[in-house]
Amino acid sequence: MSADNKLIFLEKAAVFGSGAFGTALAMVLSKKCKQVNVWHMNQKEAALVNEKHENVLFLKGVPLAKNVKFTADVDETYKGAGAILFVIPTQFMRGFLKAHGAKLLSYVKANKVPVVVCSKGIERSSLLFPEQILSEFFPGVSLSVLAGPSFAAEVARGVFTCVSVCNRNIDEARQLQRIMTTADHSFLCFATTDTAGSEVASAMKNVLAIGSGIASGLGMGLDARAALIARGLLEIRDVTKALGGDGAAVFGLPGLGDLLLTCSSELSRNFTVGKRLGQGETLDHIQKTSKAVAEGVFTADPLMRLAAKLKVELPICSLIHRVVAGQLTPRDAVTQLISRDVRDEGLPKLFNAGNTPSKL
Ligand SMILES: NC(=O)c1ccc[n+]([C@@H]2O[C@H](COP(=O)([O-])OP(=O)(O)OC[C@H]3O[C@@H](n4cnc5c(N)ncnc54)[C@H](O)[C@@H]3O)[C@@H](O)[C@H]2O)c1
Repeated sequence: MSADNKLIFLEKAAVFGSGAFGTALAMVLSKKCKQVNVWHMNQKEAALVNEKHENVLFLKGVPLAKNVKFTADVDETYKGAGAILFVIPTQFMRGFLKAHGAKLLSYVKANKVPVVVCSKGIERSSLLFPEQILSEFFPGVSLSVLAGPSFAAEVARGVFTCVSVCNRNIDEARQLQRIMTTADHSFLCFATTDTAGSEVASAMKNVLAIGSGIASGLGMGLDARAALIARGLLEIRDVTKALGGDGAAVFGLPGLGDLLLTCSSELSRNFTVGKRLGQGETLDHIQKTSKAVAEGVFTADPLMRLAAKLKVELPICSLIHRVVAGQLTPRDAVTQLISRDVRDEGLPKLFNAGNTPSKL
């Protein structure tokens, strides 16, 4: 390994967000840092997690590493940290940053600490993606985005996982890659620069996963799922393009990778919500019987408002949104989708753009 490629080990890292994914990422960092502090909004619950050495609230069954500590004290969380991760669900990020963003910004600027956004979604009030929300509170700070197929339950147990770490500045992405990749490479990071594509893909795959779950709940098969993944990916591409992303993330880990994962597994909360909708439960009942946040439920509406603003047509996501909003039954949504006029597949050629004859 060249000197440039050497992994970076830290004294301390801070994780804001103590749900399943924040806990899982803290477990990754526990292999790279002497101490990892995780901020939780409630002191009693933080103490309970520390006492049980397990996040019994959001990630049961995974014993916490000894050097992971939960705390409700913001200062205790970040002071001395050489990297800061944000994993607070998108809709709650602004509230947290309004209260604590200013002091965090001073610390980050004074100590040149890398800041990584790991949340996925679109803020309902502003139509902003997590990195954009954070950049309002952290002006002048070069923020990174972590994205890609990574179920918290697997990441926390150290099961092999590949993600992208994105920064518009590739050197910063590479630095973060060396901070986040574990020595055994069970958590392996690829550096990339398509921040816009990563955020769009990460948000939209949660909505598409609800659609995949709906299809499953209705008894549709794997052919339908694969079609939804392939056609859904093009909707991700179109929004990314409209927002000026270079598209690298679309067919990479944040796009195709995460879409495949989330659309194909009962481990996905978004898939599960969709499946229950497809089986006839109401969203209200599903939400009342689940503590964890299925980000796609909150993303569907702002996604459609963003698409309207960008003048991008999203046939699949718009039907999923109407089911989530209670405006359409799952069965009617499928009927509408498959009764659309027949059309060309409409994909751009990747190779052989017309000049050289095909050898086949
Ligand atoms: N779970 C996964 O496998 C996974 C994987 C990749 C990315 N993500 C993303 O990570 C983010 C967090 O998801 P999660 O699965 O860890 O969440 P979760 O549903 O497991 O936990 C929700 C968290 O939000 C906190 N919370 C609730 N209300 C809050 C408030 N008002 N202010 C601040 N915090 C509040 C809770 O204390 C809890 O820590 C989401 O954007 C999600 O899309 C999740």
